[in-house]
Amino acid sequence: MSLYAHITGWGMAVPEQILTNEDLARQVDTSDEWIQSRTGIRERRIANGDETTATLAVEASLRALQVANLDPMDLDLIIVSTSSPEYIFPATACLVQDRLGAGKAGAFDLLAACTGFIYALNIGTQAIRSGAVKNALIIGAETLSRLVDWKDRNTCILFGDGAGAFVLQASPERGGVISAVMRSDGSGGDLLILPGGCSRMPATYETVASGKHYIQMNGREVFRFATRVMAQATEEAVRKAELTIKDIQLVIPHQANQRIIEAALRSLDIPMEQCMINLDRYGNTSTASIPIATCEAIQQGRLKAGDTVVFVGFGAGLTWGAAVAVWSGPQAAVRRMLPLRLRMYARLRSWIRRFLRRIDAMIWGRHNPPI
Ligand code: ACO
Repeated sequence: MSLYAHITGWGMAVPEQILTNEDLARQVDTSDEWIQSRTGIRERRIANGDETTATLAVEASLRALQVANLDPMDLDLIIVSTSSPEYIFPATACLVQDRLGAGKAGAFDLLAACTGFIYALNIGTQAIRSGAVKNALIIGAETLSRLVDWKDRNTCILFGDGAGAFVLQASPERGGVISAVMRSDGSGGDLLILPGGCSRMPATYETVASGKHYIQMNGREVFRFATRVMAQATEEAVRKAELTIKDIQLVIPHQANQRIIEAALRSLDIPMEQCMINLDRYGNTSTASIPIATCEAIQQGRLKAGDTVVFVGFGAGLTWGAAVAVWSGPQAAVRRMLPLRLRMYARLRSWIRRFLRRIDAMIWGRHNPPI
């Protein structure tokens, strides 16, 4: 029996704090007019001290699980796509798994920069189609504001924080994610890079002093690359789905730059009305931008059950990709999910597990328990 991965839940979370172009113009040598005309961005959301990549991911996930009417205990897989994980390890996905109380799920992080959500969507889909996984939670979450040099006008005007999540569920009915392409070209790795802090360049006074822990970008080169690959990836994914561009009702692109999106749509001959854009309010939230834009497209009634939608993105790596999905819409209600109760249950579960681990350590001390 063939299995399909249907998108049955979606959710987003963005910080409340807004940073406008005018605010930025008071910090660096730029202007609202320059930023809007070159990027289309008016404002972005910035995480406060209590908000992290995991807290935003959990908020978005709870909303997605609620739409899908799915208990976290029924999740088999959690993938967090992020370029701003809480730590190198443990994976942010494991923090999310713990805070959701998803006791039966495998969890890992995926790093493909802004293309990450497309990669995660494809990996989740393939896991479902193979029969190995029934329910998967795919999250794109970022707090890139913590990795941006707020004195560098080339980069600090672009990025914002946020998270978006999809629930994928197995079904024998044809639909859901029907094709995807993933591509990469590491020869362009230096065009968009955060060089410091890992094994190649561990943190030292010198690396911190010389700004090696901030995002560095060659904007013009990334721009040229992006305009070329967005259209290519879309065409390839559509062909793979055995459809034509005319069959597409909505394009949801990575929200990096209005001009990049317009150039891609022009070469695909798709009118702008068939494209979801919300980068003016959120800036580039990297891997979170596609699921956030999807949630807003649904809120605005622009994406309905049965519609064929293309997700397309590009990012550091270099990476790029696209996916075609037949929009499924939420599942018929199976059980009511109460996020507050769920959160309390997850916290209690986590506390009990830590407590048992401590008891275990007290009993066995420096010795290993008998096998
Ligand atoms: N305000 C005012 N002037 C600026 C600013 C600013 N914020 N930033 C750059 N400039 C200046 C430059 O110094 C330059 O001046 P010069 O001509 O005297 O040297 C001039 O404006 C033009 O600079 P360009 O870099 O050519 O400007 P461009 O039109 O290419 O726009 C931008 C720059 C917006 C960064 C654009 O190149 C872009 O969007 N590139 C893609 C970036 C992107 O999408 N990155 C995310 C990838 S996804 C991921 O993986 C995270």
